[in-house]
Amino acid sequence: MYRTKTCGELRLANAGEVVTLAGWVQRSRKLGGMTFVDLRDRYGITQIVFNNEINAELCDRANHLGREFVIQVRGTVSERQSKNANIPTGEIEIIANELNILNRSEVPPFTIEDNSDGGDDLRMQFRYLDLRRNAVRRNLELRHRMGFELRKYLNDHGFLEVETPILVKSTPEGARDFVVPSRMNPGQFYALPQSPQLYKQLLMVAGFDRYFQIAKCFRDEDLRADRQPEFTQIDCEMSFVEQEDVLQMFEGLVKHIFKYVRDIDFTEPFPRMTWADAMRLYGSDKPDIRFGMTFVELKDLTEGHNFSVFDSAEYVGAICAPGCAGYTRKQLDELTDFVKRPQIGAKGLVWVKLEADGSIKSSVGKFYSEDDLKAWTGRCEAKPGDLLLILAGKTMPTRKALNELRLEMGNRLGLRDKNTFAPLWVIDFPMFEWDEETQRYYAMHHPFTKPKDEDIPLLDSDTGNVRANAYDMVVNGVELGGGSIRIHDPKLQDKMFALLGFTEERAQAQFGFLMEAFKYGAPPHAGLAFGFDRFVSMLAGLDSIRDTIAFPKNNSGRDMMNDAPSALDQEQLDELYIKVDTERIEKNKK
Ligand code: AMO
Repeated sequence: MYRTKTCGELRLANAGEVVTLAGWVQRSRKLGGMTFVDLRDRYGITQIVFNNEINAELCDRANHLGREFVIQVRGTVSERQSKNANIPTGEIEIIANELNILNRSEVPPFTIEDNSDGGDDLRMQFRYLDLRRNAVRRNLELRHRMGFELRKYLNDHGFLEVETPILVKSTPEGARDFVVPSRMNPGQFYALPQSPQLYKQLLMVAGFDRYFQIAKCFRDEDLRADRQPEFTQIDCEMSFVEQEDVLQMFEGLVKHIFKYVRDIDFTEPFPRMTWADAMRLYGSDKPDIRFGMTFVELKDLTEGHNFSVFDSAEYVGAICAPGCAGYTRKQLDELTDFVKRPQIGAKGLVWVKLEADGSIKSSVGKFYSEDDLKAWTGRCEAKPGDLLLILAGKTMPTRKALNELRLEMGNRLGLRDKNTFAPLWVIDFPMFEWDEETQRYYAMHHPFTKPKDEDIPLLDSDTGNVRANAYDMVVNGVELGGGSIRIHDPKLQDKMFALLGFTEERAQAQFGFLMEAFKYGAPPHAGLAFGFDRFVSMLAGLDSIRDTIAFPKNNSGRDMMNDAPSALDQEQLDELYIKVDTERIEKNKK
């Protein structure tokens, strides 16, 4: 037996027992005639003592142990003189009488400590060492526990877990597909699934009634802190349900997980907000409702005072930052620079200070009288000491910029506490999104989403204003999940493809199998998918989903550890009938 106990389980009650432990040397230190080694495994750390007076040869060998050596130690559990209250095994130590070095280690490139000295890139390159650190391992332990609990909830509610294929047909709608060449079918490609969407709908046609899968999904899109090229969904689908059934079922799941992981009871139903309100009040389809500072429209109050920026703007919107009237010129300049960043895109920032004594100061004071400005602060319900921040321009881009400014102010004012959770359903999304570049509509959720019954007559006449039976679960400004009621009527589905610019042939080539299936009795169905990585990262209080994934990719989609993706041998390429256009690649690099 390599070990009789783990490094995390011995307590004072075990004093006197003879045990064998195995693990990694976290650190060792010499104090007088004693050598102390902290031995670590997945379960914890136990202090091992080698006493020079009892066994000089053993102590000498212990003095030569390096960090991360793998050792096996036999000894007697005994009460510690100076106890360590910070670790569960802190009341005991092992007086060693046997030491086996099972493996040596080179000096690791960074310290395997909670506060490691390793930078991001280095830790990703040596991810297996990073995973030895408590902080990272704990996230994966949480992920494991959440996976179990999710399965339990869904199983208890009659959901059947079904695996769907990873090599699928390419149906690029949404993000780009990752593709896989087929050796047996030269010149043809599979795609990796962006989600199991079509398969879960087919499972409903098959009569499975309630399906779920903790499913790997792959999307070739720009990466961010909450986006990985391969990620995991908690993917679900139900038959014979209306939107309300779906929202109830999955609100229940979210509540269950919050209770289980964080012991938080959400006793009230989650609030619901239409997409239109979310955009009007927060400029975002995923509003962070942990704090107020909602948008107030001022266009009508600002007009006709020869201030051309406002006069020519389609939209003038303000947020009221509580207690910020004391902001200095420097702070206001900083905010102006912030909104002018290219990714935010505002042209400038207007401010109005309602001073503590009730007087008003503004960056546009020469265009507006004190009474004019008071009308603005009045509409914003500003209190003495508050600061209005105002942006103007085209409606949608200005709302989006004001959203960024609101979130920035939320951060500055400490209103976005990671331990406060504010869940929200955003409902009634628009069905379509117009793309200027390609001059066509795209489905905002996906092409299988059912428009609202009352908006179906508008499909041809007022396409842009058709609303969908689509919903997102948003927590603290993060889109945790989303789904929709599906179209189950083949005629309506055909119509949708046509509106999305598919020719009949292309719709047939890409989605023919689904349309064929719908001819054989598709039940009304609906579903949703949560981002599992995002869910874990939110409950673990992390800024990025990377640390919930054992072997993540970096922001260029590279695995820093094994340097994937990489070039293929000519032989492999030949077998696949693939020619790489190196000339074009070189040209593009320049
Ligand atoms: P959607 O595309 O909204 O819906 O995805 C569902 C959820 O998956 C998560 N997610 C991601 N997480 C990490 N990295 C990514 N690149 C990434 N992309 C998405 C988000 C998101 O809310 N088939 C539909 C669901 C349905 O209609 O049932 C779908 O995939 O948390």
